[in-house]
Amino acid sequence: QRGERIRLVEAHKVAAQFYIDQLENSPEAETGRAFLADRGFDQAAAQHFSVGYSPQGWDHLTRFLRGKGFSDKELTLSGLSQEGRRGPIDRFRGRLMWPIRDISGDVVGFGARKLYESDNGPKYLNTPETGIYKKSQVLYGIDLAKKEIAKSRRAVVVEGYTDVMACHLAGITTAIATCGTAFGGDHIKILRRLLMDNATAEVIFTFDGDAAGQKAALRAFEDDQKFAAETSIAITPDGMDPCDLRLAQGDDAVQKLVETRTPLFEFAIRQIVLRHNLETPAGRAAALDEAAPIVAGIKNGAIQHESAVQLAGVVGILDTQFVVKRVAQLA
Ligand code: GTP
Ligand code: MN
Ligand code: MN
Ligand code: MN
Ligand code: MN
Repeated sequence: QRGERIRLVEAHKVAAQFYIDQLENSPEAETGRAFLADRGFDQAAAQHFSVGYSPQGWDHLTRFLRGKGFSDKELTLSGLSQEGRRGPIDRFRGRLMWPIRDISGDVVGFGARKLYESDNGPKYLNTPETGIYKKSQVLYGIDLAKKEIAKSRRAVVVEGYTDVMACHLAGITTAIATCGTAFGGDHIKILRRLLMDNATAEVIFTFDGDAAGQKAALRAFEDDQKFAAETSIAITPDGMDPCDLRLAQGDDAVQKLVETRTPLFEFAIRQIVLRHNLETPAGRAAALDEAAPIVAGIKNGAIQHESAVQLAGVVGILDTQFVVKRVAQLA
């Protein structure tokens, strides 16, 4: 098992360099170089994140790895190759390649974005579950961010590979992302370990300002109490993600977005309030009914009290004490 891990990690290391060489030298990879340039990433940025390109043919990488002594069995076990009609073929073809490293820096998989309209596959394709790649446990960028996360007791969670790149280049070197899956229990455990379960630590979600991003934020809210950290959310009002924002408005705008974050419970309450008509007593009562349990769930007594006072204001209930009592009863 351990011997197998070493072989699969070695295959990924060779593959990552193969993809880098392709991006830098192959004429076909001009599509990939242009994609990066359009996103505001220069060659140094691509190199810092070891971005590469997988050629369009059926088995370029498969043949290259065979030549380096890897068996067909190892190639399919690694997820780099898949069974074709006449033996293994490349899984990733004609895509921009982001190597995904584990916390110790070993490449264990890839995230791959399609570059050609003719490609019928999904926009992003990931390594399947293998002996060394578990999507519920990988966090893209964790190898680069871990030191700063531990030191600053702060982690910024974004949605995509390009968002991690944009944040790091903008000076937010605590940025990480899940890889084609929702942020979940195992990711929380990994972060808690880095943040040392410290109540003064902070987890900031900087999701896309679209419907999917807002949904992801509310899902994160349900996990909020598991973080043992302050959690907050920073979403652009106009649907942009950090990569779009950096491209449109520069590094400063990305920094400002993260600085002007909102506590997750405030964000959740705001979403509730938006669904009710606060012009009517019945609407205010309904909003209070939904929001009060959320405030009651805040563990810190002082913050809970302050939030209850805030809630009264947001919902438009003049009798602040009524709301404070209501929250206290539920707590
Ligand atoms: P760009 O067009 O590259 O800017 O993508 P985007 O910013 O619109 O990406 P989006 O917000 O759709 O997705 C963010 C992240 O979600 C990606 O980096 C992927 O990790 C993941 N993702 C998005 N689409 C897919 C998909 O079709 N399959 C998988 N497995 N993951 C996806
Ligand atoms: Mn999105
Ligand atoms: Mn909290
Ligand atoms: Mn996005
Ligand atoms: Mn994007």
